[in-house]
Amino acid sequence: MTDSSQTGHTDRNMLLDMIHSTSKTSSEDLLFTYKGVLYPTVLCNEETFKSLENFEAREDDLLVVTYPKCGTNWIIQILYDIVGVISNKELLLDNTMIEFGNPEMLERFKDRPSPRIISTHLNVQSIPKSFFQKKVKTLLVLRNPKDAAVSFYNFYNSMPALPTYQSWDLFFKDFIQGNVVYGSYFDYLVAWNKHTEEHNVMAVTFEEMKLDLPTQLRKISDFFRLSLSPEQISLVEEQTSFTSMKEKSEATHGKLGNAFFRKGQIGDWRSVFTEPQSKQVDAEFEKYLAGTNLGDLLNYNKYCSF
Ligand code: A3P
Repeated sequence: MTDSSQTGHTDRNMLLDMIHSTSKTSSEDLLFTYKGVLYPTVLCNEETFKSLENFEAREDDLLVVTYPKCGTNWIIQILYDIVGVISNKELLLDNTMIEFGNPEMLERFKDRPSPRIISTHLNVQSIPKSFFQKKVKTLLVLRNPKDAAVSFYNFYNSMPALPTYQSWDLFFKDFIQGNVVYGSYFDYLVAWNKHTEEHNVMAVTFEEMKLDLPTQLRKISDFFRLSLSPEQISLVEEQTSFTSMKEKSEATHGKLGNAFFRKGQIGDWRSVFTEPQSKQVDAEFEKYLAGTNLGDLLNYNKYCSF
């Protein structure tokens, strides 16, 4: 991890430049399929996916796994702030997504000092095996599928690296079929359900973080054995509130600030979903997640009743 006294052209800036320089073209150019899953061409490529198979995890890595739009940037900022507060350094955000960029960018993860903050949207099967062999502490951040879908729709339409949808209804059809980048929300959680009993895996929800961030910060920092004092928790809470992150977003995410920090709310789906669409998601939830550990954690009835 780089500290801000050594600012340079980070891999993160390089990726942001790549996205900014993309002009929206056809869906065929912007997306490609690898092992049956769609990915954005601007950010991912087959060579890097192949190199990832041999990626060497470290036992003290802090791994964050998320389905897209479930609070990835929020949790990454939280971890940077926790590590920063503990080491008493202001850390400059760098790219944390292992599947982004070219193999050289992946190679540079080797140069980062511990603890490395690493994230991925890849499904369980595609995450480098060494993370499992070394039992790396893994934090899974979940969000209810209806808000995740609405966030995803808005993101597609504001992100140059992704195709534009003419309507929510068209996006919804693709979302429910898993025909979106990184595949099906439900497949993603079904696969993680098999790992929830492992002592190195912990799951938290966007909704719990939103409603009581200090409690979740304590849980997250204890899990990673980076325990914080009450004062340090308050500081991280303040720095990672939606308002504070949105305010800083131009500095952290350039012109994409508004795309990454849109509303940050629970329940925005209610202004977008039709009743039949809502029922369709309910049926998928019932089929794949109801009664499972992650299904219970989502508190589906509270956040997803029409
Ligand atoms: P919305 O589009 O519903 O506003 P990701 O980082 O995985 O792409 O997730 C993006 C979602 O997380 C967006 O949701 C964004 O606004 C929300 N988000 C980001 N930072 C947040 C914060 N500090 N507090 C609450 N929500 C946040």
